[in-house]
Amino acid sequence: MPSQAVALGTLLSLVALRLITTSTAEAQLPPSTGGGGAEECIRRCGSVDIPYPFGFGPDHCALSQAYMLTCNDTGNGTFVPFGWKTVQVLDISLERGHIRVMNFISFYCYDATSQGMDYSRWHWDLTNSVYALSNDNKFVVIGCRTLAFIGNVKDMGKKYMTGCAAMCPIDGNQTLTDMSCSGMGCCQAPIPPGLQYYEVFFDDRWNTSAIHGLSPCSYAVLMESSNLTFSETYVTSPEFNTTYGGRAPMVLDWFIPNKNCQVARTDPGYACVSSNSECVDTASGQGYICNCKRGFRGNPYVKGSDGCQDINECDDPVKYGCHGSCANAPGTFKCFCPRGTRGNASAGPCQKESLPKGVRLGIGIFAGIFSCLVVFLAMEVVLHRRSIKRQALHKQSNQYFQQHGGQLLSQMLRVEGNDNAIIFYEREDIVKATANFDKANIIGEGAQGTVYKATLYVDGIATTVAVKRCKEIDENRKTEFLQELVILCRVSHPNIVKLLGCCLQLEAPVLVYEFARNGTLQHLLHGRPRRHPAVSLATRLRIAVESSRALAHLHNPPHQILHGDVKPANILLGDGCVVKVSDFGCSTIDDSTQVVPKGTMGYLDPEFLYDFQLTKLNDVYSFGVLLIELLTGKKPLVKERKNLTAMLHESLGNGTLDELLDTDIVGEGSMRVIHQAVELASRCIAIPGETRPTMQQVAEELWRLSEQVPERAPPPEDLEGRGFMDTVTALSYGYTTGESETTGFYGLESNAALSIEYAR
Ligand SMILES: *[C@@H]1O[C@H](CO)[C@@H](O)[C@H](O)[C@H]1NC(C)=O
Ligand SMILES: *[C@@H]1O[C@H](CO)[C@@H](O)[C@H](O)[C@H]1NC(C)=O
Ligand SMILES: *[C@@H]1O[C@H](CO)[C@@H](O)[C@H](O)[C@H]1NC(C)=O
Ligand SMILES: *[C@@H]1O[C@H](CO)[C@@H](O)[C@H](O)[C@H]1NC(C)=O
Ligand SMILES: *[C@@H]1O[C@H](CO)[C@@H](O)[C@H](O)[C@H]1NC(C)=O
Ligand SMILES: *[C@@H]1O[C@H](CO)[C@@H](O)[C@H](O)[C@H]1NC(C)=O
Ligand SMILES: *[C@@H]1O[C@H](CO)[C@@H](O)[C@H](O)[C@H]1NC(C)=O
Repeated sequence: MPSQAVALGTLLSLVALRLITTSTAEAQLPPSTGGGGAEECIRRCGSVDIPYPFGFGPDHCALSQAYMLTCNDTGNGTFVPFGWKTVQVLDISLERGHIRVMNFISFYCYDATSQGMDYSRWHWDLTNSVYALSNDNKFVVIGCRTLAFIGNVKDMGKKYMTGCAAMCPIDGNQTLTDMSCSGMGCCQAPIPPGLQYYEVFFDDRWNTSAIHGLSPCSYAVLMESSNLTFSETYVTSPEFNTTYGGRAPMVLDWFIPNKNCQVARTDPGYACVSSNSECVDTASGQGYICNCKRGFRGNPYVKGSDGCQDINECDDPVKYGCHGSCANAPGTFKCFCPRGTRGNASAGPCQKESLPKGVRLGIGIFAGIFSCLVVFLAMEVVLHRRSIKRQALHKQSNQYFQQHGGQLLSQMLRVEGNDNAIIFYEREDIVKATANFDKANIIGEGAQGTVYKATLYVDGIATTVAVKRCKEIDENRKTEFLQELVILCRVSHPNIVKLLGCCLQLEAPVLVYEFARNGTLQHLLHGRPRRHPAVSLATRLRIAVESSRALAHLHNPPHQILHGDVKPANILLGDGCVVKVSDFGCSTIDDSTQVVPKGTMGYLDPEFLYDFQLTKLNDVYSFGVLLIELLTGKKPLVKERKNLTAMLHESLGNGTLDELLDTDIVGEGSMRVIHQAVELASRCIAIPGETRPTMQQVAEELWRLSEQVPERAPPPEDLEGRGFMDTVTALSYGYTTGESETTGFYGLESNAALSIEYAR
């Protein structure tokens, strides 16, 4: 029966409220707070403080009628302020602009006797008042089959409607959980901000008639959401209704209406009259409230001692988080650690300072000086070590220099008046030039040592040189080595490889030669793909001429030098294939002083083997073989066939010379010249040796022959850049590799050790 509908809410409209005069309040004032004249304002009712702008009784006790309350005795000695006739005020907050009141719970119950729905629905109309429904509230619905709405259907301009449904399992309560209002037996919905009117509706399509045995009633109320602690018994019993006597706490925002701060400040009725107060606009923009500034507290709506006063934070250091000394100041305070302690007094307790400031400063300075000293000493030690190392190196260099006979050599050179003939390179220069004898720079390795291609910087100009690092020489060989050096220094001829200098500061002596870019004659004749490109007769003759001139120069007085190992591998080819005769390093100065002869099988004069006495004639023989090799393009000694000289004699005998000659030069139409050259060669290899021509004669004769065959084509292309170049060059500095045919004879005085190595 809807007849039970209670429209109590209408009674609560503020219009009605304002008509309630305060005349009765005075009479009902609690005796304890009573007394005094008309000017006295009561600021407390029961246990509730009533600060200005709210108040009772005479008009001036409240800011306006809108803030006027009544204080009524509820009948048993307690006094409760009532704002609107029956609405109980719980408390008032100036700072937040809140006033908490008791709101009435709407219900919707099945009445078993009348078999109809019994209900009570509340509405609030705060339109044009100084109150609005706070967002701290939520619309809470409790029930098992309930759909309830909150809304404004009256005011067309501000229409809204929201709501929620509370359900529970039809046959039981086991799934309901305490404390959680989330749809099961309880639901809640937020409301829009700044709301001033609402009504509650229950949807009559949802009723509890079918489950009235379990849950007869549904409830709905707008209440302070933080106050709701849902219990499952709310669904099955009237507990929710009875807890606060059919009511629930609700929060209202109150404010000074119709003006925002900006406007209000210039208004004569500006409410924030206290000093150190400030104006705060309400969130919904319906007005403003006043607050005390930070660090002050009091009532910003009144002047004088009740207004905003400075907070003495130092009175409550725990609350304001000061662990040290505190000094209050208007609106703020200082928190610091007392003298003799240190730390952040705002963050935590201060610590006792262990040492006075002066002492700490002293320690700091001392530590600084000490660490500087340590660093300085460490640097000194490092520098000292380095200098010791450098000195040791220097000493060692000098030692080596002595050991290798550097002093002796200088003397020998000085005696000859030839001081500048040889450069003594510094250890560092050589190490740098060869990148510390980097393996990548090796261009040859042999029995005597290793040859590196190196780049020397002389007066800033880079020069490519060949650096020969000898195997260590023993005491016995020292003199020979030095003699060798002296010989090499003396020789200066365009067709003889030049010794630039040496370095005796390393553990093994190092010789520095000019670098021949185009390999050796050996390579020119045999090293390249056959017949490509052909080496012309003219070129061959020129090479022969230059080689013979070089040898003639060596043989000539005053410094008579025997080469001892004339062979194509020792004929280097420099720029433009100019001949550079090399590797007479182990030659001897003259017959009498010879000690270490050497030779290569095939080029070695057979007569030499009789007595091991090296003479100029031996060189002539070797040159003869070389000349034959130049003309025939054949190696003198090959396992598979007879040796070249024998073949020559044979072909000369039976007139088949032309077959023996290199086909490259046969067609050149200078057969007469070739034959004359062959004839010269055969004289060179004649036995006995006494009939052989001298190198001087050979050179002159060859020169005449070459005159008849002018070198038309440019000399064979430079070979530099070809992959095999470096290996070939390596052979040229007198080093034996596995392929070499050099034979060494050492210790000839005793004739004891004779070792002959054949390379297959
Ligand atoms: C007396 O006051 C208490 C607490 O305010 C209240 O619960 C009780 O109902 C009151 N009794 C009477 C008789 O009004
Ligand atoms: C205040 O109490 C008196 C009697 O105790 C009662 O007559 C009056 O209606 C009450 N006023 C309000 C607003 O409840
Ligand atoms: C309850 O709701 C049902 C249908 O939802 C309806 O048939 C019944 O009449 C309602 N009972 C009451 C008492 O309104
Ligand atoms: C459901 O509620 C009823 C009545 O309140 C109670 O007797 C019963 O024990 C509850 N059931 C469960 C499972 O909690
Ligand atoms: C709910 O409000 C009442 C009335 O002010 C109060 O006594 C109670 O402590 C509040 N409960 C919670 C949980 O805030
Ligand atoms: C709720 O409580 C109020 C006041 O105690 C009472 O008038 C009302 O009938 C109760 N409603 C229900 C459904 O129990
Ligand atoms: C001291 O501590 C507070 C809180 O931890 C911090 O805000 C402040 O910056 C600190 N002051 C100094 C000087 O470190």
